[in-house]
Amino acid sequence: MAIETLQLRVRQITNEAEGINTFEFVDPDGKELPEFTAGSHIDVHIPGDFLRQYSLCNDPRERHRYVVGVLNDPNSTGGSRSMHENVRAGDLITASHPRNNFPVRDEAKHHLLLAGGIGVTPMMAMIERLQTMGANFTMHYCTKSEEQTAFRGRLADLAAEGRIINHYDGGDPSKGLDIPGLLKEHAEGTHLYYCGPTGFMLATKDGSAHWPSETVHFEYFAPVVAEKPAAADGVELGDAEFQVTISSSGATYNIPADKSIVDVLRENGIDVDTSCEAGTCGTCKTHYLEGEPDHNDFVLTDAEQKEWVMICCARSNSENIVLDL
Ligand code: FES
Repeated sequence: MAIETLQLRVRQITNEAEGINTFEFVDPDGKELPEFTAGSHIDVHIPGDFLRQYSLCNDPRERHRYVVGVLNDPNSTGGSRSMHENVRAGDLITASHPRNNFPVRDEAKHHLLLAGGIGVTPMMAMIERLQTMGANFTMHYCTKSEEQTAFRGRLADLAAEGRIINHYDGGDPSKGLDIPGLLKEHAEGTHLYYCGPTGFMLATKDGSAHWPSETVHFEYFAPVVAEKPAAADGVELGDAEFQVTISSSGATYNIPADKSIVDVLRENGIDVDTSCEAGTCGTCKTHYLEGEPDHNDFVLTDAEQKEWVMICCARSNSENIVLDL
């Protein structure tokens, strides 16, 4: 089963801040695009054979376009650089349908948004949604400087109202937002949403560790570097072989230490959808019936991990995992 894709035309590219462009995609024939909800992302096929996930940052009520924001990060593995250097207005690109691992929770009494740098992109669609709902929200927006802060114009009125608070740290996070201080108290009914670079994610994760898990929501845009040491042949030490069973057929397969569940299923003719293959996008989310996965993903909440597993990155704490496939 291949992922259904969309052909989109790049209608416009706009510089939003130092190193940050937005790319506006439309249907080549002017048709409406599939609906999306705030917090959604699309997978974009980029020249150079890159596939990257970008959050949609326009108003989810819009059906005529998708807009993504892309940082030309000198430390990137090449995808975002290629977007900046090789994609031009008028080009046709291939993208996935929108998917959402980071939805707004309607039940929250207050929405606390923490954006680090380009992690603001999903928050832009969330803010549109929250304003449409008449919801109560505050966003703390952490960047290095005003010049590197995207969407300043779009956010100016909310900043003037105090609903958006900008924090410029000059490149030294210790001079920016006091994340542990901000998250020290959890007010009942407040939900936290955060997205940003790895250090920001880890600081926010630590700072919110005492919050009820169902009130904390996040989206990683890059996998955190694996903590497990790797052996010379690239096999992660400590990974034991385990088995997966396919519930519909009863077939059982060994998953050796140097292969993922996805690798082994494909070798055996079982087609599974993937995109990032790094535990960040949610494409390979699979229901399981038995076993105790060692999850390793950056998408699922504690509650979701009791029923779902990302089969591109999970290992196992039990001898066998039964997949609902
Ligand atoms: Fe992206 Fe598995 S393919 S989480």
